Amino acid sequence: MSDVLILAIESSCDETAAAVVKNGREVLSNVISSQIDLHTLYGGVVPEIASRKHTEQINQVIEEALKEANVTLNDITAIAVTYGPGLVGALLVGVSAAKAISFARKIPLVGVHHIEGHISANFIENKELEPPFVCLVVSGGHSHLVKVMDYGKYEILGRTRDDAAGEAFDKVARAIGLGYPGGPKIDRVSKEGNPDAIKFPRAKVEGSVYDFSFSGLKSAVLNYLNSCEMKGETIVQADVAASFQKAVVDVLVEHSMQAVSEAGMKKFAIAGGVASNSALRAALSKACEENGIEFFHPSPILCTDNAAMIGCAGYYEYLAGNISNYDLNAVPALKLGER
Ligand code: KG4
Ligand code: ZN
Repeated sequence: MSDVLILAIESSCDETAAAVVKNGREVLSNVISSQIDLHTLYGGVVPEIASRKHTEQINQVIEEALKEANVTLNDITAIAVTYGPGLVGALLVGVSAAKAISFARKIPLVGVHHIEGHISANFIENKELEPPFVCLVVSGGHSHLVKVMDYGKYEILGRTRDDAAGEAFDKVARAIGLGYPGGPKIDRVSKEGNPDAIKFPRAKVEGSVYDFSFSGLKSAVLNYLNSCEMKGETIVQADVAASFQKAVVDVLVEHSMQAVSEAGMKKFAIAGGVASNSALRAALSKACEENGIEFFHPSPILCTDNAAMIGCAGYYEYLAGNISNYDLNAVPALKLGER
């Protein structure tokens, strides 16, 4: 079989990204134009600004991805694009660009689920990884425990009932004066702090062992900050950050290990922006070792939003014959496993 070259496009949030991926797992280029500096001014992602910036960047990012991969559109087998979930205006920029190229050059179009992309990031650097395995997906918008039964076949074991893990990181970071984006800042500051300094709750969700809830933890941090202020006590930023981070990590590790064990699996992977958290990676690596589970994780650059992961997921969708029509639309609340 001749090589399958996927041109992948991702624009679901605040990264305009394009990549060229060969045969699913070989990344020929991975171009990411981040808008973080722009949104930092406002303390979070402003959807309208994100869409406008994507429009400005998209063509250039695609051209760069092709150039870096040393290919032209004539070499491309299929175009994969994130069509949900995400910000509708942001998604539409990528979807429109992909449709336009696909239509003009008669290249098949493949709509990809963003979370499927995050999970697939694990295949890029772990050439031997094959389903089935359990994957913890933790990003700014999602916290899911997923059983990956086969390529493109998922069973959701647990999900957050309120805030996503990354959202909790971002909100707590703002509350303790670290600013946006919160995750990487809390990760960094926590290295100087004592994770046992403050006892924050480890939330359990009634009726489900795998579901998460982070809004109670966020409130506990805010209450702690308020009570310190009322008592005139100055907070130790690093201790608050480290104690909060430990509370999140403990819950993620406990639920993950339980899910892997009850699913009777020996392989476990992580995905999404929060999967680049150093404390989470260390704790999961230790827990997997103790339980005889093989642990897979993408490099940090493939954990946060990128198009290489969409190219990898798009490859398997393409092989499965899941070609999209030109009525492909942005679906902001697209569910995993739906097409
Ligand atoms: O996957 P991603 O880039 O975008 C979404 O699909 O949401 O994830 C972004 C999220 C943000 O909430 C960010 O604060 C968090 O991932 N994040 C981290 C770290 N790096 C990014 N959270 C904790 N520790 C990190 N090192
Ligand atoms: Zn993402």
